[in-house]
Amino acid sequence: MKNIDSATHTRGESVYLDDIPLLQGTLFGAAFGSPVAHGTIKSLDIEAAKQMPRVVKVFTYRDITGENQIGGIIPDEVLLAEHEVDFCGMPVAFVVAETEDAARAAIKKIKVEIDLLPVITDPREAQQKGELIVPPRTFLLGDTDSAWSGCCYIFEGIAETNGQEHLYIETQGAYAIPQENNGIKIYSSTQSPRATQQASCKVTGLAMHQVEVDVTRLGGGFGGKEDQANAWAAMCALATHILKRPVKYSLNRMEDMAMTGKRHAYSSDFKIGLNKELKIIAYEASFFQNAGAAADLSPAVLERTLFHCTNSYFIPNVKARAYSCRTHLPPNTAFRGFGGPQGMFVIESAIVKAAENIGVDAAVIQKTNLIISGDEFPYGQTAVSEANHCWEKAMLMYDIDSIKNEISFFNDNNKLFKKGMALMPVCFGISFTNTMMNQGRALVHVFTDGSVSVATGAIEMGQGVNTKILQVAAQVFSLDPEKVKLQTTSTHKIANTSPSAASATADLNGKATLMACNAIKQRMLAVASEALNADVSSLTLKDEHVCIDGERCEWTWQRLVMAAFLKRVSLSEHAHYATPEIYFDKLKEKGHPFAYHVYGTAIVTATIDCLRGIYEFDSVKLVHDFGTSMNAAIDIGQIEGGIVQGIGWMTMEELMFDKEGRLRSNTLSSYKVPDIYSVPKRIDIEALKTEQDNLAIFRSKAVGEPPLMYGIGAYFALRNAIKAFNPQADIAFAAPMTPERTLMALYGLRDKEVWEREKEVSHHG
Ligand code: MTE
Ligand code: HPA
Ligand code: MOS
Repeated sequence: MKNIDSATHTRGESVYLDDIPLLQGTLFGAAFGSPVAHGTIKSLDIEAAKQMPRVVKVFTYRDITGENQIGGIIPDEVLLAEHEVDFCGMPVAFVVAETEDAARAAIKKIKVEIDLLPVITDPREAQQKGELIVPPRTFLLGDTDSAWSGCCYIFEGIAETNGQEHLYIETQGAYAIPQENNGIKIYSSTQSPRATQQASCKVTGLAMHQVEVDVTRLGGGFGGKEDQANAWAAMCALATHILKRPVKYSLNRMEDMAMTGKRHAYSSDFKIGLNKELKIIAYEASFFQNAGAAADLSPAVLERTLFHCTNSYFIPNVKARAYSCRTHLPPNTAFRGFGGPQGMFVIESAIVKAAENIGVDAAVIQKTNLIISGDEFPYGQTAVSEANHCWEKAMLMYDIDSIKNEISFFNDNNKLFKKGMALMPVCFGISFTNTMMNQGRALVHVFTDGSVSVATGAIEMGQGVNTKILQVAAQVFSLDPEKVKLQTTSTHKIANTSPSAASATADLNGKATLMACNAIKQRMLAVASEALNADVSSLTLKDEHVCIDGERCEWTWQRLVMAAFLKRVSLSEHAHYATPEIYFDKLKEKGHPFAYHVYGTAIVTATIDCLRGIYEFDSVKLVHDFGTSMNAAIDIGQIEGGIVQGIGWMTMEELMFDKEGRLRSNTLSSYKVPDIYSVPKRIDIEALKTEQDNLAIFRSKAVGEPPLMYGIGAYFALRNAIKAFNPQADIAFAAPMTPERTLMALYGLRDKEVWEREKEVSHHG
């Protein structure tokens, strides 16, 4: 089945925040952000801004009718700065005017005097100064201390990954409209209507039943709107609450890039020990997460780094420690993979470091240590593993030997172009790591004309979740998909939703939809059973007909619906689904946090132009564990998008803050994302179809985030190509491997900063 949005997307008819028709009298907001990263506010002068034409009001923290607080996990984030600013771009005032241009022009007239305070941008420096968002977390398995003596090889090093700008096509924004009796309706580009509702309520002082958040779809979220859509909605809600007029704020690209948090940069230490057979016996890692100025989702992201710190491998002795470090950057937030990719880059770096020093192919170490069913993850869950299946199928399907031969033939015959290849196995846990969040709800109505309405907590952001949910309803009722309509996602239809995140949206909301549809179907079939004098267990629905023992009878879907209605049987159902079996004990750091894992193996090949340092990705060939895909077209789209986004993070997207905490890569000309010319020339996707019983909707495993991590192979493919040109090249485990860094590495130069940090110890037993 096609993505139900494909026709309207193609015609430009799909509705985003900016497509909502404006009500007469709508006002426009714009936020004034701090020009510096850290300091105390000596004075704030908004008089000149207030005098600007068409300006209606300039809001500061003093105008807040509720609480000046929007922190999601920890109440440590104000909506508008009071006496201190903690990052460059931190909202200080909110101007509301009759036009967008007038609001932005007024912002330029705001004057703020700030006494500068020291700026920290480096997470290690923050950790040394005790600037932690939450106490450090440690995951332990076995005993590394006593394991080192049994290792034949031990290597230590540093691995660093930079942040990443979400660059959703639709920027952040909200449109708040006053309702009677003080109510407010907010259209928001949010992944979490409940969080947006809650923040707006806290700031205005309204109760949650007075504030409705309604979402049609997002032009991309990628985690950037899991928590960070709230501020703009809260500002609009506050202004609407006070002025009793509709207020809209749609950030422009530069505002969005400057004011919102991104993927967390990490700097990490690793130590890896292997025995003679190349089994990894022990692994230690310390992760320094650059959280930015407030908690946002950082503690949860930190946790997932620990969950994925051993990627697809079984390691019997693990000690992983993670620090969430407070710096003076915009608070960093969820981004596809949610800390997992950062953890995986470090273990892959450790393996490659070991391989390069021992003189074996990294793939040999990877393969030797793949997790198998029955092995224990460092957090206590027992693996049901497809790691070897994916790996072996990839080697066979894509004929790894011929890929290797082609590369060495090419490299032997080309001086100025070199190819490199890397294998990237991935294992990603599906469920919110916070067990409580693993719940979903659906509200299904069957109308008397036979059409069906489905509302859930799921947010459509391009990932195709609405199509999947529609498929669930159409399948249960055996209806033409045209008869089913997915409604907008509203807090007043479905309350207390979890964000659409953790790749779990289709599972959680799809399962709730399945329950609701089944309940209605059972009630309707009971009516038919009585009227047709047939046992209810003999009745099924097929192609809009009732069947008795599989044989179509004269009752159509339409007749069934009317019969139930005339009997006063409810044609509506609200269902609640909570993932069974999962739990996690944060004191012991052990449990069974994931409903299941998704596995895969990718082969990434790259060609470097060794004169210029530029490169291309020849191919990404992979085997991916889909379970049993319920929509191959959507799932393949997710894999292709994830790979390209992962490659962008690993190679070309270079987020740059200066020492003063100012974002330098603040435009699309200074921050490069992959375009059609930089995507791999070929992406081959082969399904590992697994029939295992699992908790995925229709056994169709979650697919949103895992493929991003195949992109990590891009860094290592480039590394191998560089080594083919210059075997002595001393390359930092630091991403992104931009053309600039590639060029330096080709000729033996290294980033000074990374170079100074690296303390290397390696010995062969
Ligand atoms: N795909 C598109 N097109 N747009 C997005 O914003 N977000 C990603 C992924 N794929 C995203 C996307 C992220 S971060 C997550 S968690 C999942 O989709 C969320 O949707 P799901 O739970 O339905 O997979
Ligand atoms: N993934 C994504 N988003 C989240 C998670 C998670 O595990 N936990 C809280 N928000
Ligand atoms: Mo995705 S980072 O869980 O929104």
